[in-house]
Amino acid sequence: MHHTTENQQRERVRIHVHDTADDASRALAREIAALIRDRAAAGRPAVLGLATGSTPVRLYRELIRMHREEGLGFGNVVTFNLDEYYGLPRTHAESYWRFMHEQLFDHIDIPPAAIHIPDGTVPRATVFDWCRDYERRIREAGGIDLQILGIGRTGHIGFNEPGSGPDSRTRLVTLDSMTRRDAARDFLGEAGVPRHAITMGVGSILDARRIVLLAWGGAKARVIAEAAEKPPSETLPASFLQQHPDTLFLIDRPAASELTRVKLPWLVGPVGWTPALSRRAVAWLSRHVQKPVLKLLDDDYTEHGMADLLTEQGPAYMLNIRIFNELQHTITGWPGGKPGADDTHRPERAAPHPKRVLVLSPEPSDATHGMGGTLRRLVEQGHQVTIACQTSGNLGVPDDEAATLADFMIELDDAGLRETGPGSGAALARMIKQQLDTKAAFDGDPPALRRFKGVLRREEERAAARACGVPRDRACFLDLPFYEQGRYRQFRTTAADVDALTSLLRKLEPHQIFATGDADDPSSVPALCFDVLRQALARTRDDAWRRDCRVWLYRGPAHDWDIAGIDMAVPMSPMELSAKIHSIRHHKSQRGQQTDETWRQAGHHDQAVARAYDEFGLANYEAIEPFRRWSE
Ligand code: F6R
Repeated sequence: MHHTTENQQRERVRIHVHDTADDASRALAREIAALIRDRAAAGRPAVLGLATGSTPVRLYRELIRMHREEGLGFGNVVTFNLDEYYGLPRTHAESYWRFMHEQLFDHIDIPPAAIHIPDGTVPRATVFDWCRDYERRIREAGGIDLQILGIGRTGHIGFNEPGSGPDSRTRLVTLDSMTRRDAARDFLGEAGVPRHAITMGVGSILDARRIVLLAWGGAKARVIAEAAEKPPSETLPASFLQQHPDTLFLIDRPAASELTRVKLPWLVGPVGWTPALSRRAVAWLSRHVQKPVLKLLDDDYTEHGMADLLTEQGPAYMLNIRIFNELQHTITGWPGGKPGADDTHRPERAAPHPKRVLVLSPEPSDATHGMGGTLRRLVEQGHQVTIACQTSGNLGVPDDEAATLADFMIELDDAGLRETGPGSGAALARMIKQQLDTKAAFDGDPPALRRFKGVLRREEERAAARACGVPRDRACFLDLPFYEQGRYRQFRTTAADVDALTSLLRKLEPHQIFATGDADDPSSVPALCFDVLRQALARTRDDAWRRDCRVWLYRGPAHDWDIAGIDMAVPMSPMELSAKIHSIRHHKSQRGQQTDETWRQAGHHDQAVARAYDEFGLANYEAIEPFRRWSE
């Protein structure tokens, strides 16, 4: 057991929680730099075990910065990478070989001979020997001093999927279907994701002298809590790290959110009962004992670690009513405020009416998905609604969708249905077709093709917005440069992004801003878009319009929000729910994408919120779109 304080008593491994992924990455970079320098001073190599994926990208950026600005040399560094997709040549855009060179090796002075990455092109018959040889080379290098790991949502480390034991060694493995789904975006659909990989085994990883596992974002929170708090088991290979004498989980706040000490702190020690925490505890208790809030008894509280809550704020009867009222007041059919009504207990203020409302969508479709029903209400209730898509979303359009559209335009031309001339649409379509035919799969698209795909998503978004009542000229598209110039996992926002949003804010001077504040994955498009918004808000802090502007967060796809964290709940009738789903279906190019599954379930999450309100003993609606109030 590694717990150092009472509230960490459930944790079977050492965990450091940092405010942000950047802070944590900088701390690890400093540790690595110290290791490299110590070894260099002693005339010895530093042997690092490295990982790919989005998680270590910040760490590699910081190491590159230290190389450039602080003279950190990598001449004595030897590296071994954990894994590689089987069947991908080095040159493939998604190969880990290419990833490592683009993200790190090309920017530092490591000797090429010191780099070791599993070879995805070894013929099947010799894979076994190749893997044994990889282990031999690790031993000959003196073993791994520091092994860096990410973690998959299946609990995999390297590509050791559930079922991998603590004695497993470097080998060829089959990827889990959840892992392939998570990689689908990189390969433009699950069908393109390789089925096999070569990976170091759990046993090979446990041989390292020190192990640091990194995890960022809420999407990893559950697997982190299980790996840290449940006994080691093959169903969750990362849990075997508990058996290693020097392992650290280095994580950010959202990734820590499912740890008992964070999620249910009253179960592991005394807590200071703030209003927010009491609300969370009562909501949890009601769910846990499966009773509506007004039926919770004193015994229910005392039996579940909440005796002091009762002492401070009880008896149960009083506490129950107070929390019941708080949650009741989150429900409103007037997301822009109800004109002329007493708004003391309403989530949104009555005046001014109508309001100027800005709805930000990180990519086209996010806003209709997260708040399509509310959008329609805002329009119907007379507010002046503008939808702004922050990025074009062109990276999410598969080639065959673009080809279909280009073919359609050429057909129109061939059928004589369109006046053509130089520079006509058909000429453009022919150029697009040619680019599609000549590009290698998974290679980046040429600019014209990206524009073309971006326009496709624009039109889908306009159709979806129109279905929610927002006219064509009220949908605008920022095409933020960080997205246009980047690719997944490698986006980097700059001042130009903040400039673009700032000028939109200043032009519209909104009374309400709706955005997704998605903490799920800090390298995702929604997270970066939110970061751009935060910076734009910081810049406009002293503008006069800001005194009368509220920021609301809507839920990103595939999230379930705890009812205790909801500040505004906008109910939908069965009719309104089906209208919302209808509007989402306008995003046709997204069929067959990673998001497709979440879309097929469009509405289920809204229904789940409604169910939670019902089970809590509040109203029973068909569906509810939830919002959180955000302030700096
Ligand atoms: C990468 C690797 C994987 C990833 C894991 C998390 O070399 O071995 O275990 O660390 O899949 O991936 P990201 O960081 O993309 O969330």
